[in-house]
Amino acid sequence: MIEKIQKLKAEISSLSIDTPDKLEAFRLKYLSKKGLISQLFFDFKHVSPEQKKEVGQLINDIKTYAYSLFESSRIRISSQKTDISKIDYTLPSYPVKLGSRHPVSLTRQEIVEIFSRVGFTVSEGPEIEDDWHVFSGLNFPEVHPARDMQDTFFIFKNPDYLLRTHTSSVQVRVMEQSKPPIRQLFPGRVFRNEAISARSHCIFHQVEGLYIDTDVSFSDLKQTLLYFSKELFGPDTRIRLRPSFFPFTEPSAEMDISCSICNGKGCNVCKYTGFLEILGCGMVDPKVLEDSHIDSDKYTGFAFGMGIERIAMLKHQINDIRYLFENDVRFLHQFI
Ligand code: DAH
Repeated sequence: MIEKIQKLKAEISSLSIDTPDKLEAFRLKYLSKKGLISQLFFDFKHVSPEQKKEVGQLINDIKTYAYSLFESSRIRISSQKTDISKIDYTLPSYPVKLGSRHPVSLTRQEIVEIFSRVGFTVSEGPEIEDDWHVFSGLNFPEVHPARDMQDTFFIFKNPDYLLRTHTSSVQVRVMEQSKPPIRQLFPGRVFRNEAISARSHCIFHQVEGLYIDTDVSFSDLKQTLLYFSKELFGPDTRIRLRPSFFPFTEPSAEMDISCSICNGKGCNVCKYTGFLEILGCGMVDPKVLEDSHIDSDKYTGFAFGMGIERIAMLKHQINDIRYLFENDVRFLHQFI
């Protein structure tokens, strides 16, 4: 037995372990459960009582030696620098799956790009707002239903603050802080206390536009929106403005575009009307200008606001808004 241990020790000390493969082979042959060192412990049972002390000592020594050799070899191998002359640069790379932009981001970017070509710049405002910027500064009467708990998320224990229900709030901030001419877009996230369904969500995104200068007229608004619609949905797109009401614009309108699926003939996407509603707009109410210290005798302006999800859904024929919030990569990878 003593001879066997000495032979094994000589064998181990003659080894050169200099690659990960050799290290693993060493571990399997000597250190694993069925390896040669475990075998020694097994054989130890048959050693005569007089020899047990000496043999036991030798087995422990060889075990410590083998483990320390393994550890020092492992450290040496892992710190070895890769020999770059041995790297094959012609091998195909790993199939790394690239991420894709979210359809809401892509649509936002496209809208911003279209308006930036006619001089609009981008500003952003806070998502947690006060009543003034979301409602009062936009001429919402004190008792307007939009302020209602059913529509607005108020901040717990501090109802002076709320989550903005529209990006029109940024209009007020910008009008307060800058002087005309103002030609800006305000994209951002908005919140409404609504049930989630295929058509609506409690969190979504809007882009608001504001143009204030001397002599801005309704025909400027109409032409700007026609240009935008043709750029976004194609050159054959027609628009239709229907009279509407918003507290902060007078006159106000809702804009429809001709349905790009059936080209205005009528289909189930446009519910056989030939048109799809995409935004609200109007001439900024003089009271709103005055409240933000802009001289309404000198300046006029138009504003518009649209939902980004709605535009993305129309562009890509997505029939359920929830797809845009679930982040299922099988859905998202379609938008490169
Ligand atoms: N803020 C409105 C909404 O969230 C959209 C809107 C309508 C914005 C008319 C405007 C506008 O600037 O003039 O429903």
